[in-house]
Amino acid sequence: MGPGDLAEVLAQANLQTPHPQLLIGPETLDDAGVFQLTPELALVQTVDFFTPIVDDPYDFGRIAAANALSDIYAMGGEPLTALNLVGFPLGKLPADVLARILQGGADKLREAGAVLLGGHSIDDPEPKYGLAVTGWVHPRQVWTNAGALPGDALVLTKPIGMGVVTTAIKRGWAQAEDVALVTAVMAELNKTAAALARRYAVHACTDITGYGLLGHAWEMASASGVRIHLEASRVPLLPSALAFAQAGAVPGGTRRNEAHVQPHVAFAAEVCAGMRTLLADAVTSGGLLLALPAEQAQALAADLQRSGQTWTRVIGRVEAGQPGLVVAV
Ligand code: CO
Ligand code: CO
Ligand code: CO
Repeated sequence: MGPGDLAEVLAQANLQTPHPQLLIGPETLDDAGVFQLTPELALVQTVDFFTPIVDDPYDFGRIAAANALSDIYAMGGEPLTALNLVGFPLGKLPADVLARILQGGADKLREAGAVLLGGHSIDDPEPKYGLAVTGWVHPRQVWTNAGALPGDALVLTKPIGMGVVTTAIKRGWAQAEDVALVTAVMAELNKTAAALARRYAVHACTDITGYGLLGHAWEMASASGVRIHLEASRVPLLPSALAFAQAGAVPGGTRRNEAHVQPHVAFAAEVCAGMRTLLADAVTSGGLLLALPAEQAQALAADLQRSGQTWTRVIGRVEAGQPGLVVAV
């Protein structure tokens, strides 16, 4: 489902379950829900699962777990517990494939310092894996996508292009090094990025996933009531991603993202068609997009680069005005 379709479905159903301790529910399309337990403690909850994005079962497990955990980090939270969600064609694929998927997930949870409590599996013609994750956050330190302020700069901690690169891999166009790099990027936790960013005055945060950089930036612009100005040449890209996008390795979700954000984006004429596609590319397990005062953004980016988050760049700024996106070269 693309973002437009999802909004239509959500509008048809009444999903309101009002409660005085509910801080963030489904209606804001934030990364995770937040429910306050005490004045000092709120639960952060999220769930995510999908079909295999890479061939190696162990890597698929690691990527699915890093992706599910990311929504906790994107809210400024710390993951605590998790439950596995599994669909698997038992009897059709070898059972050790499933064992490898689950091992990848468990290894990532351990790296995150989270605890696996259990899970649920069903027989399913197509393998699926993901997790429901619960974390905690101080109720006054929640990062939503609605707090970006004019004068902020935007920091992005991972490259984009996972959708076109994984599509190119499926078509047999990619080299072994493309596979290794996109796998490593998707399997990386946003833990370090979030931990360092907590030392700065973060006004808004989201992670870049299925709606792409432009889709998630538009959600932030619209929720915050601001204009977001991106510089395409500063956005970190997976090395082969632009060439693959120009050659047409473009997943359907990316095309839907392009159509959905189109009314909200003003591109400079010099931004080529391949780059416009890539900026909307459907991402799996992308980086954090953080809005913070411009004078702090450069320091955070340098801090992250020194700590091994070498893809991190300042990619744009937040301006007052009609909510929307402006993309310069
Ligand atoms: Co998210
Ligand atoms: Co999510
Ligand atoms: Co958030």
